[in-house]
Order: sequence, then C-alpha cells, then structure tokens
Amino acid sequence: MKTQVIQVRHPINPCAFDEPGSALREGQVVAFPTETVYGLGASALLPEAVLSIFRLKGRPSDNPLIVHLASKDEVHQAAIQIPPVFHVLYEAFSPGPVTYVMLRNKDTIPDEVCRLSTVAVRFPSQVAARALIKAAGVPIVAPSANFSGKPSPTRAAHVLQDFDGKIPYIIDDGPCEVGVESTVLDILSDPIRILRPGFVTAEMIYERTGLRAVSWHEEPKGNEQDCPLSPGMKYRHYAPSARVFIVMPRTGETLDKTFADTFGARPFEKRGVFTSEHTWRALVERIGQDMEGLFLSYTYDGERDIKSATRCLFDALRTFDDQNVDTIYAEGFAEPAAAGYMDRLRRAASGSNNEEPVDPPRQILFICTGNTCRSPMAEVLFNHRNVKGWKAVSAGLAAYPGMSISPRSAEALREWGIDVDAHRSQSVDDDLMEATDLIVTMTDAHRDILVRLYPERKDDIFSYSAFTEDQRDVDDPYGFSIDSYRATRDRIQKGLERLLAELERRS
Ligand code: TXA
Ligand code: MG
Repeated sequence: MKTQVIQVRHPINPCAFDEPGSALREGQVVAFPTETVYGLGASALLPEAVLSIFRLKGRPSDNPLIVHLASKDEVHQAAIQIPPVFHVLYEAFSPGPVTYVMLRNKDTIPDEVCRLSTVAVRFPSQVAARALIKAAGVPIVAPSANFSGKPSPTRAAHVLQDFDGKIPYIIDDGPCEVGVESTVLDILSDPIRILRPGFVTAEMIYERTGLRAVSWHEEPKGNEQDCPLSPGMKYRHYAPSARVFIVMPRTGETLDKTFADTFGARPFEKRGVFTSEHTWRALVERIGQDMEGLFLSYTYDGERDIKSATRCLFDALRTFDDQNVDTIYAEGFAEPAAAGYMDRLRRAASGSNNEEPVDPPRQILFICTGNTCRSPMAEVLFNHRNVKGWKAVSAGLAAYPGMSISPRSAEALREWGIDVDAHRSQSVDDDLMEATDLIVTMTDAHRDILVRLYPERKDDIFSYSAFTEDQRDVDDPYGFSIDSYRATRDRIQKGLERLLAELERRS
C-alpha cells in the first residue's frame, strides 16, 4: 500500500479533507494531528475498522480507545446520562487536551472500542483534526499513532517511521502543540479523578472550575467491574531503547551543575542531553568546549520552560533513539504543572532496559600522548581478546578530542583483521580516572606525569615497560613508516601476555 501524505494548507479549505473523510467513513485508517500527539484514526462505528487499529499498533485488546468528536453537540453519539460536571469542564477545557470517561452509548459504540460500560470521549482543538472529524461525519477512534510501547508521535515523520506503507493516509500539519497525550478524567466519580495525567493538571482544573480532581491512586475504587481506571496505564509506555536518567533541579544549585554531577564516567556510551538551549550553553561552559563532542544534545529554544520541554520530549526521545544513544539525561521539573511531562519521563526511565548491568566489567585505561596511535592500538588489541570481566579504553595526556585513530595504526591493525572505525580521541580526566580500575601508560614519562596528577592512584598506574621483556617504553611511531607501526603493534601485543597475568593477580 502506498501511504499518501496530505500536507495541510492554512486556512483550511472546507473540502480539503473530503477524500480522507470518506475513507474514514468507509472503514479505512487515517493518521492525523491533534494538539497533543498524532492519532491513528478509524470510524468508531465500524468494528472491523476498530480492530484494524489494534492490529496495526500491536495493542492489547483490553486497552480501550478514545472516541474523538468535533463538538459537544455530538456527545450523545458516544455517551449516555451525561453528568453535569461534563458541561462545566467542557466550557473550561474543550475543545482541548482533556478526555472524559462517561457511560458508553452501547447502541452506537461497539464493544471493540471499549469492553467496559464506560467510554472515553475527547474533543480535539487542532484545526485539521476538527476539519477531518467533520468531513468524516462519524465519531473517530484514535490512539496515538505509534507501535505500542514506543514514544507517541508528535510529528508526521514519526508516524511514517511506524506506518509508512501500512495505512492509506497521513495528514501532516507540523509538530503538535502540546506534546503529551490528553489528561484522562473519570467524571463519573466524585471527586472527579485523573486517570492519566496530561497537560491539564488538577491545579488548572481547580483554578478554572473550582472542581477538585484527585489522582486515581488517591481514590482507588473497590468495585473493579465498572471501575474506569485507564487500562492503558498498566502498560509500560513511552519507552525509548536508551537508558534514561532524570535530572531533577536541586535547591540552591543551577541545573547545569546538577547535570554535570549526574554524568559520571561512561566513556563507552553514546550520551544524549535533553534540556533548554540556555541550560545546555551553561553546561558546555561548565564542562568545557571539548567535552561538547562527547555528548549529543537535543535542546529547545530559550530558557527552561515546562511547556517547551513537554512539546519536545517525545521527539527528543525518538531522535536520540535514531542516533543510537545509549544513555539519555533529561531535565526534570518539580512543579505541579509538570505532572504529565514527569509521568511520561518516569515511564521512559523505568523498565528492564534501564537497569544497570549486574556485574559491570572492570576498566583498564591505556594512556599515551595524543590518543591516536599507541593507546588506541593497545585498547583495540586488548578488547579483541575478550578478556573476561575487563574492558579497555584509552586516552591521551594531551589529546586533541574527537580524532580518529591514525591511518597507519588502523592499517597495522587491519592486517590482523581488526577494524577500528569507531575510535575518537579523548583527554584523560577525573571522571575517566574514577571509572577506571587499572591504568597503563605507554612510557615511564607518561606514568610519572599521571602519578603527579593523581598521587592517590599511584598503585594502579603502570608503565608498559613493566610488561615488556626489555623493560623499555613503547615509543611513538608517529610520522614513521608502516614498519614502525607494525613494530609498535607487535610490542604491545607481546606485553599483553604479562599484563593479563597482572589482571589475573588482581581479580
Ligand atoms: O491525546 C490523546 O488522548 C491521544 C490523541 C491521539 O487524541 N490519544 C491517545 O490515545 O493517547 P491512547 O489510545 O494512546 O490512550 C488512551 C488512554 C489509554 O490509557 C486507555 O486505557 C484510556 O485512554 N481509556 C480509554 N477508554 C477508557 C475508559 N473507558 N475508561 C478508562 N480509560 C480509558
Ligand atoms: Mg498511546
């Protein structure tokens, strides 16, 4: 199937969505933007169309869908015995990012949408969404347009990642304004309960309506039968592949300092930082320009701000995944207005792929001057042996950061069938030293300098000369012929035998 991407032109022409509107009416699937996230839409009146949504998403069938309507006049198409608070809340928040759980109109809304006696109804404010629902002329079910378990899509490109070639239409109206899913409210309870936190918070509800809203955690219901707890909340959602650390603000400390303290040494990992442009710049200043190369950043414009952070969160998580980032450091917010953002971020941070490895290997650090010839060779030769319980890294005492291994070192290693494309030079620093169990320098002079810098580590710092037969340094082949590089390679390789014996002694 070819997926047609329909670009929205503003102002929207009343006929613009005739084609996708009738496609929906006839049982086809159309992805469309809302102010929260992109939704995967189908007619709520057609059980087959509804089931196709579950199939496309790989969604558990006990997780019901939200019915989307264009306006309050249509609410009876989805719900019965509308409670009076609905009207109060509608005035304050709809159309907008709030979903109301009410009693289901079983004459119109089939069990496929929701097996409960209730139904979730929402009135999006996004103009293209409203125009599409009107063009369809039927209630539209729309879960977020992502495979179950992935971060929700906030751009048409995210939807294409999961559903290109699998659905007939995607309507593209740029990035979503809010960025997290709607607040789901159980309005059958008194006080009303927040089943899923979102952009609209209990504080906002109280401020605008005088109604008290509690989190369902605070007021769980005894009777499960009709209890409209958001079944979706029990699934682990919003998960990127990377491990996520939340950096919470601390009193009396700037956020860039807290970020810097959180980093620790993870020299093997590709690390991403999600924060404001402002905090990122302060952070770069703090950790040094050359460290900038060690982190990928996803920033939003200006100062730290919960609205902007919310808008960008899912795109940041997805972008870091595309970049194969191992660890994401994302800024946290303590204020009540951040309930929705923090809920999604905590979910992203929890779960099996975020746990520390049971027994992390110990680290050996090879040191030379520029970290482009000798020490990366030693690192690669060491790692090539797959020494149980150990892994090697390398750094330079005066390295220019981000350089590849020198071409002749690479060539000498390639002759032994070892590829080293990934190496990037780095300078030794406190974090790296702290994360390292054993340090081996290429020359005695390197060792002496390092011992002077880190006297408390002197028992962990060795010169390679301790492991070579003639007890001499591994000299720098830089600028010499390929033969010198081969000699260096062979010399390092020989020393490794004795070095491994030393490791044995230490384990
Ligand atoms: O912002 C949104 O709400 C987006 C956009 C596309 O409208 N939609 C969305 O849908 O997030 P979905 O399917 O990803 O999440 C729907 C949530 C789930 O947690 C589900 O369990 C809950 O709403 N839900 C649906 N029907 C319910 C009901 N009758 N009672 C309680 N919770 C319900
Ligand atoms: Mg979802």
